[in-house]
Amino acid sequence: MLYQPITIKNLHLKNRIVMAPMCMYQSDDTGIAKDFHFTHYATRAIGGVGLIIQEATAIDPDGRISKEDLGIWSDDHIEGLKKIVHAIHANGAKAGIQINHAGRKARVEHPIGPSPYAFNDQLLVPKEMTQADIDKVISDFKEAARRANEAGYDLLELHAAHGYLLFQFLSPNSNKRKDAYKDRKKLLVEVLQAVNEVWPKDKVLAIRFSATEYVQDGVDPIWLSTVINEIKDLGIDMIDVSSGGNVVSQSIKIYPGYQLDLAHTIKEKTGLITVGGGLIENVQLGDYAISKGLCDLVFYGRLLLRDPYHFINHATDIREEIEYPKPYLRGKK
Ligand SMILES: Cc1cc2nc3c(=O)[nH]c(=O)nc-3n(C[C@H](O)[C@H](O)[C@H](O)COP(=O)(O)O)c2cc1C
Repeated sequence: MLYQPITIKNLHLKNRIVMAPMCMYQSDDTGIAKDFHFTHYATRAIGGVGLIIQEATAIDPDGRISKEDLGIWSDDHIEGLKKIVHAIHANGAKAGIQINHAGRKARVEHPIGPSPYAFNDQLLVPKEMTQADIDKVISDFKEAARRANEAGYDLLELHAAHGYLLFQFLSPNSNKRKDAYKDRKKLLVEVLQAVNEVWPKDKVLAIRFSATEYVQDGVDPIWLSTVINEIKDLGIDMIDVSSGGNVVSQSIKIYPGYQLDLAHTIKEKTGLITVGGGLIENVQLGDYAISKGLCDLVFYGRLLLRDPYHFINHATDIREEIEYPKPYLRGKK
């Protein structure tokens, strides 16, 4: 199943293999894409990945995870992003982009967040966002979505996982507001409404969520599924299921496929296309996850950092014959 094609709206993927978004911290203060990014993403496309989801790309310089993040906060970024899309398309894969505001986890002098509570001892206490701050974030997400479309991405992913701003509003551990945003899904709904005004209806819109916070009182997959069902008519096509990152927890157990049950719950309860993964280090486990209906696509992160050609060289591990990149045929085993 891993190498079977899938079509979502007008996005035709040659297989179910997704490169997970992974920050590379290889830009500079400008946020503009560099040669590294073209090479990095082109290489994984040559390596047979069906869909590449580009690393968290900042919608606002004050929402960056680091000063080396890729940016999409200005029209000046579009040219470089177009080149990344081209590098991916030219090598046979489809291109997605994850857009993000880091909120209280931003490494800036004056971070903002839903409520004035720091993530941990190392990060600053954020300023509680005013309505004007919230309006700006909504507009920044919308502008970023417009630019992503102009740059030619096939898929847009909102980052609502790992304790970044959209997740901070979703979690009772970081959202202690008394105003209308105590409705923890309100910001996400407003961002979706704004994004829908510019992101074409025939292109895929995905959201990455943390489906658990690994603490007793936090977002869990059942609550999250209910929220997704309430808002899925706002054009959500795909859920990328991750976990953790909003509170420090001692009870995270990591093993191959550790987040697949979360993806399965979200898939069953919402009926949406899901991407599952987490410490999946070979084609067999990814294939198993899809064959058993735990998820529809599988994301691979760290495996693709160390072994970009894994999927062209290991298709035969599950008895698949796939088209090998022509220039490299002489090296095929
Ligand atoms: C270097 C690195 C950077 C990452 N950056 C992001 C990111 O930008 N956005 C995101 O949603 N997850 C990010 N992650 C998490 C991965 O997308 C993935 O969910 C995680 O690594 C688990 O999958 P794996 O075991 O296959 O690596 C990052 C992980 C790594 C290792």
